Amino acid sequence: MEAIEEQAVAMPRIGDQAPEFTAITTQGEIHFPADYEGKWIILFSHPADFTPVCTSEFMTFAKRESEFSALNCQLVGLSIDGLYSHIAWLRTIKDKIEYRGMKNIEVTFPLIEDISMEVAKKYGMIQPGESTTKAVRAVFFIDPKGTIRAIIYYPLSTGRNFDELKRALIAMQTADAYAIATPADWQPGDDVIVPTAGSCGVAKDRMETKDADVTCLDWFFCTKKLSLDQVNNPPN
Ligand code: BEZ
Repeated sequence: MEAIEEQAVAMPRIGDQAPEFTAITTQGEIHFPADYEGKWIILFSHPADFTPVCTSEFMTFAKRESEFSALNCQLVGLSIDGLYSHIAWLRTIKDKIEYRGMKNIEVTFPLIEDISMEVAKKYGMIQPGESTTKAVRAVFFIDPKGTIRAIIYYPLSTGRNFDELKRALIAMQTADAYAIATPADWQPGDDVIVPTAGSCGVAKDRMETKDADVTCLDWFFCTKKLSLDQVNNPPN
């Protein structure tokens, strides 16, 4: 019994390679993450088809899919439901649900059927304290090399904030492109954080810098300008 519970909550960590799997989805069979090599992936789980919070989330993600694909990011959803339930739910969303100005919304990214819970267990999406039969609202950000870069979990009752998912994705892409970090509440175009000095010499240079784009509050806390145009057009 203990072993089963341990398996249910085992989860990959930031920095791990994304666990591989083959699955049936609403867009056909996928080999994960190999099919998306060279792209960022947001793999997200939801508790169940035909439920209101999940429906609001799917409509929002589908409406905003082009914003994520413009960031070279593939969306992949999952729940512990069968393929025909997924198909029926997505058809209902398209044909019948009008919500907050969204209507006729077609979900074209893959939605994994995981009735066996094989994938959900691999990714620690079953959190027994919350539910033993439904996946929590997990979000895995996976980079173009298949490495897990961020993980966000929400309980069943709380719909996700899609502005934050997009902001986090852009922050990671910007950190990679410019070797910087991003401060609290950073938005594209705001100043970024210069990595902390790793030696006394660098600390001294930082404090004495004449670079007008760099501001040091102290030797360990320097920011620099990074324009919206630089964020939107990173070097290759
Ligand atoms: C929902 O998506 O509305 C939902 C799903 C499972 C539990 C609670 C809410």
